[in-house]
Amino acid sequence: MNTLVETISRGDIILEFSYLLAAIFFVIGLKMLSHPDSARRGNLWAAAGMLLAMVTTLVLHREGDPLTTVKTGNLIIILAAIAVGSVVGAVVARKVKMTAMPQLVSLFNASGGAASALVALIEFSNPENQSALVTLLGLVIGSIAFSGSVIAYGKLDGKMKDIFAKWMSYVNLLFMFAVIAGVVFLMITNAPMETKQVLVYALLGLSLVYGITFVMPIGGADMPVVISLLNSFTGIAAAMAGFIYQNQAMILGGIFVGAAGMILTLLMCKAMNRSLLNVIIGAFGGGGAGSDKEAGTIKEVTVTDAAVLLSYSSKVVIVPGYGLAVAQAQHVCNEMEKLLESNGVEVKYAIHPVAGRMPGHMNVLLAEADVPYDKLVEMDEINPDMPNTDVVVVIGANDVVNPAAFDDPSSPIYGMPIIKAYEAKNIIVMKRGMGKGYAAIENFLFYDEKTRMLFGNARDSLQKLVTEIKSL
Ligand code: TAP
Repeated sequence: MNTLVETISRGDIILEFSYLLAAIFFVIGLKMLSHPDSARRGNLWAAAGMLLAMVTTLVLHREGDPLTTVKTGNLIIILAAIAVGSVVGAVVARKVKMTAMPQLVSLFNASGGAASALVALIEFSNPENQSALVTLLGLVIGSIAFSGSVIAYGKLDGKMKDIFAKWMSYVNLLFMFAVIAGVVFLMITNAPMETKQVLVYALLGLSLVYGITFVMPIGGADMPVVISLLNSFTGIAAAMAGFIYQNQAMILGGIFVGAAGMILTLLMCKAMNRSLLNVIIGAFGGGGAGSDKEAGTIKEVTVTDAAVLLSYSSKVVIVPGYGLAVAQAQHVCNEMEKLLESNGVEVKYAIHPVAGRMPGHMNVLLAEADVPYDKLVEMDEINPDMPNTDVVVVIGANDVVNPAAFDDPSSPIYGMPIIKAYEAKNIIVMKRGMGKGYAAIENFLFYDEKTRMLFGNARDSLQKLVTEIKSL
């Protein structure tokens, strides 16, 4: 008996220690994720922490505690689920295109939310479970994260359109109060467990519907913020599930995800000069031109003229955008940059925080082409330099250089900070045609006196430019 007690307590100590170690791994991982240079290794550190916590939990679970005991039959199901999940995750992550990464993140978010909600649903009626409030919060937040993320996936993938009407804000408020009222009622009612179980399913349904109506009206250009917010919800729901099982690794992992998601959400709101509430109820983006300004005429530039202009400049700033990613033009862009530099031209990249379709999209893309990190300059740092820039080359970017963001109060992107390409002495814009950007609005930069359009697929245009510059 003594030996058994000793074995259990030793196991418990090792388990607790492994959770502490896992938490340290998570922190190291998060820290390393903050720089593109170390991000890949950071991800591996965090994954190693998660693997450690999972293995030690499965092996060293506490005997006698029905909430945490892993029974042999369950173990087989758990291992089978891990195997299926790992194979699906690995295949999907390998196959996903860089431009479809936000969709994948949405689906991962949805899975996390659903898992936490299911834990809460199952454990609500468990008589050993002492944490009713935490369970209900896990259920509500997890299911909102699940259905909201599925809608976010549909919208990002172009399978769903924004549905916005002013009254939807009121319906959403109503749903929110109904969900809160449901949680409060379930906390205070003395109804028998069977009745409570029915009510819990009703609360689940209500939360799922709220998740849908919450994300549905949010405008396309605000999707990154919403995804990051839903990611934060998933983390919080996972932390709640951790509280139910008194599992420190789950609590800590959930809190880290919740906090990181919330910080990213607020940073993105700051980058767009808007409040979180405005993002949630503002129905930003996806609107019309937003202005009755006359568009003016478009001026094109030949590859030869563009090559001459670039080669005889002293300072060039490249603004990469979503189109660069679509065209996979990062390598040839790097080639042009090196070529210009060998001709004595100073070349920098201006990085907008929401250029592309996911946070850090441009950094990742250009890192792939071995562009040195010191060449990537953040928006706030490069903007004061724009008036001294001879040529700004906008490659597949649109919304992030749209001056309507500050000079047109009726524009849906009004207030969003942009890269001030319009301040440069010359502007070359490379895109295929007059297609709109993500916010689906007109861009008067293309009609600017100083702007010359170089139409075509970004990779083809850059390739032609490289050949032309070489021949000069
Ligand atoms: P966008 O405004 O989306 O514009 C991209 C432009 O690239 C389009 O106007 C398109 O014009 C052009 N293009 C597409 N394929 C091309 C190709 N193969 N070659 C050349 N050009 C091509 O891009 P942006 O300026 O990077 O702004 C990003 C937008 O996405 C913002 O509104 C942002 O809020 C939103 N968003 C960002 C994220 C994150 S976190 N980064 C996530 C979701 C949404 P043509 O059709 O005429 O070629």
